Amino acid sequence: MEKFLEKLSKETALAFKEAGYDENLGKVGVSNRPDLCEYQCNGAMAGAKLYKKAPIMIANEVAEKLKESKAFSSVEVCPPGFINLNVSDDFLTEFVLEMSAANKYGVEEAAEKKMYMVDYGGPNVAKPLHVGHLRSAVIGESIKRIIRYMGHEAIGDIHLGDWGLQMGLVIAAIKEEQPDLVYFDENFDGEYPAEAPFTVGDLEEIYPKASAKSKVDAAFKDEAMACTKKLQDGDKGYRAIWKHIMKVSVDDLKKNYDNLNVNFELWKGESDVHDVIPEMVKYLKDGGFAYISEGALVVDVKEETDTKEIPPCMILKSDGASLYNTTDLATIMVRKRDYNPDYIVYVTDKRQELYFEQVFRCAKKTGLVDKKTELVHIGFGTVNGKDGKPFKTRDGGVMRLEYLVNDINEKMLEKISTGREMSKEEAESVSKMVALSAIKYGDLSNQASKDYIFDTERFMSFEGDTGPYLLYTVVRIKSILKKFVENGGNIDDCKVMSTISNASHKNLLMKITGYNDMIEGAFEEFAPHRICAYLYDLANVFNSFYHETKILAEENEELKKSYIALLKLTLGIAEDCMECLGFSAPDKM
Ligand code: ARG
Repeated sequence: MEKFLEKLSKETALAFKEAGYDENLGKVGVSNRPDLCEYQCNGAMAGAKLYKKAPIMIANEVAEKLKESKAFSSVEVCPPGFINLNVSDDFLTEFVLEMSAANKYGVEEAAEKKMYMVDYGGPNVAKPLHVGHLRSAVIGESIKRIIRYMGHEAIGDIHLGDWGLQMGLVIAAIKEEQPDLVYFDENFDGEYPAEAPFTVGDLEEIYPKASAKSKVDAAFKDEAMACTKKLQDGDKGYRAIWKHIMKVSVDDLKKNYDNLNVNFELWKGESDVHDVIPEMVKYLKDGGFAYISEGALVVDVKEETDTKEIPPCMILKSDGASLYNTTDLATIMVRKRDYNPDYIVYVTDKRQELYFEQVFRCAKKTGLVDKKTELVHIGFGTVNGKDGKPFKTRDGGVMRLEYLVNDINEKMLEKISTGREMSKEEAESVSKMVALSAIKYGDLSNQASKDYIFDTERFMSFEGDTGPYLLYTVVRIKSILKKFVENGGNIDDCKVMSTISNASHKNLLMKITGYNDMIEGAFEEFAPHRICAYLYDLANVFNSFYHETKILAEENEELKKSYIALLKLTLGIAEDCMECLGFSAPDKM
């Protein structure tokens, strides 16, 4: 469906043309002076240069022509040549009526379906999730949903950090603690036990200890490297204990991501490409792309136009070991083979920007990925505490995501349980939904690349630019609609009509018209924060309308039905926005 601003622009373009000027000057935007007008066209200013004529003269001539347009209820020229516009009630409501009947409220689904792979989450096995992992999960999930909303195919891949030294460290630590385990017995040829010899709680203690120890104890570090090698070389016992680590850790990760309503189609990891690395290395060598530099195998990725130094992409270390690079490149190769995606979108900390630049250049240059495939890195900023420093626990430790989420769930349950008549179960389920909106909206409402302050109190507030405020608004709409039905009304019978009762009514209608434009923009820029900003504005204009208008008490039945249709539309749009963001509203709260 056409965008509302495009429709308005068509009217002004025609007026420019009729007045003898270039029709491209007739672009209309939302007014940046809402106190003066609703929309504005600044084309006369640009036209002044083109036609060497005072902008006010051009504006006056165009305004004269615009008087005939049915789109505007008022057209005013303001020095030096602004054309200030108010939209007519008929034109506005007609558009909204069309939106209500359209698929996805006028969002045009892509004519050509593309295939997107979204690489997000990226947790490391055996290490607990911390608050930094929140961003990748929440932003990536939302981007995936936005892509799908636009009618494309999207596959989310968690890309587990499940290979390399981090695994060797854990295995070395287990071996040191329990050297008699059968996994370490070279002569063992029976079945390995089905149960892991550790719990997830144990694992979470093992990794940080082992990591710290390897930094001060050279012998232990060597042992960890030897364990890594044995694992990668396919030692049966080491692979078996690694499988336990994977199972225990992945079960726990699934639980954590479930709690965030984050779902991955693929649970692939670095380990999955281990076996294709030799093939890739051969390909890079045979193609003449990779060469040995100071013992290591590298591919040059610098380009003439570079303004900063882009180091070569290292494929293998001098001891032949693979690196983070290696697995990412091999993963690209496998993704091409298995899915041939049009896009691969990576959502990681923005400090990995240079890294991805190298990987992308290497993949493109060497043809590991198809020419058509666009590789995109979305880098996000840091989650800070109120002191502006990276978010920590009270005693300065790394904040575990699980504890953070639990804490917010508990506080929200307390908030929801007080002063409301709700069963315990209901309060629990409602507070979980509200808490999730607090966390996700708190993150997503910031432009991804910026750092933000994780302010639990503010995020949980029912007022202001927060998830709970949005949910509260949605619940308000739901309950009005419910009452309308209880009073015998039929929502499907209601239609937006052309009567506009007051300024806030018009504001709500105007806000609604911007929906398809906004969603398409959010998709093109992979920018969930744009949906958040829209949703917040929508909630505000709705609440003003609600406070200034008798809805259910309206005596004119037709007008009441028109309000109900508008509420239904507002609700539908808000729910689609929330769906794209990855949270939803309860029926009451
Ligand atoms: N596991 C990595 C880390 O903790 C993040 C993985 C990001 N995705 C990727 N394809 N490299 O830094």
